[in-house]
Amino acid sequence: MSPHLLSVDSLNRDAVDHLIRLAERMEPIAQRRQVTRVLEGAVLGNLFFEASTRTRISFNAAFCRLGGSVCDTTGFTFSSMAKGESLYDTSRVMGGYVDAIVMRHPEQGSVAEFAEATRVPVINGGDGPGEHPSQALLDVYTISKEFARLGKPLAGAHLLLTGDLKYGRTVHSLIKLLSLYDPLRITLVSPPGLEMPQHLVDLVASRGHRIETRPSLAEDFADVDVIYATRIQRERFTAEMTESFTELTADFVVDRGFLDRRCSPTTVVMHPLPRDSRPGANDLSTDLNGDPRLAIFRQTDNGIPMRMAIFAHLLKVEEEIARDLREVRWFVPETFGVDDRTLKAQ
Ligand code: NCD
Repeated sequence: MSPHLLSVDSLNRDAVDHLIRLAERMEPIAQRRQVTRVLEGAVLGNLFFEASTRTRISFNAAFCRLGGSVCDTTGFTFSSMAKGESLYDTSRVMGGYVDAIVMRHPEQGSVAEFAEATRVPVINGGDGPGEHPSQALLDVYTISKEFARLGKPLAGAHLLLTGDLKYGRTVHSLIKLLSLYDPLRITLVSPPGLEMPQHLVDLVASRGHRIETRPSLAEDFADVDVIYATRIQRERFTAEMTESFTELTADFVVDRGFLDRRCSPTTVVMHPLPRDSRPGANDLSTDLNGDPRLAIFRQTDNGIPMRMAIFAHLLKVEEEIARDLREVRWFVPETFGVDDRTLKAQ
């Protein structure tokens, strides 16, 4: 693995498995049963030039849970980039201040360009419609945990990716990571004009997976193991696209009716979030809240151990973790959400 995490292209299957095992070791800390100070004294710089809630806060929390502290800036308005500073200068300056950097930026390739000017590890927190490697890692971690819970093998699994597959960076990174696994079946469903880029379809096919496209969700998906829904990324539309794309029709909606009629009782539903819950948005429906098939909050929870694993690996402290553990002394609720259930293996 390179000193940075800019794209999932830098990961092979061994590296992914290694990070998953490391994330498993982080679970007691992420679930607030144990505390470590292994990154005591280290500082993370979080540079977010695009909207974010979970990526920014979870990187922040993951670093703090390893004992480090965080400095962050959000938006261009309050950064010197608003005064015309280059990515190169900002990168070199930040490298002198902090020990690791997470960056999110609206332009594809910008985080890689930024990383060229520093030896401090840089993590791509999303570069426009490009990639979102840490999200893909927490997604495969989630998939592996859900399959283990259901007692199903991952080899040969059928995954359905739906929504905005053109501009959604999470699915771009995810499909590349999935292509490292034993042969899978991947079905793509997106509204016209928002299809998965062809080079990614070709890559997955060239690695021996069965990949097909369906026109909508108005079909039978009874053998689908995982549905990965995504938000329509209107903020990335060209003017032409904005004009022609009105709204997502009911044929693309993942809701309780769709799951009950067309899927199976063990289908796992994922989404990188945020889901657009405004009326008419037709994103992943809130009528699935409380349904055990809805894995979205288990998925967000998994972001902490996986991001801790990424930091521990890039900052080379993974062997120190076990040495430094103490018990938590503050109040920790039994579950983090009011709708959470303790899911037993089925
Ligand atoms: C996504 C992103 O920013 O790419 N969110 C996330 O990081 N979990 C998805 C989105 O914005 O739709």
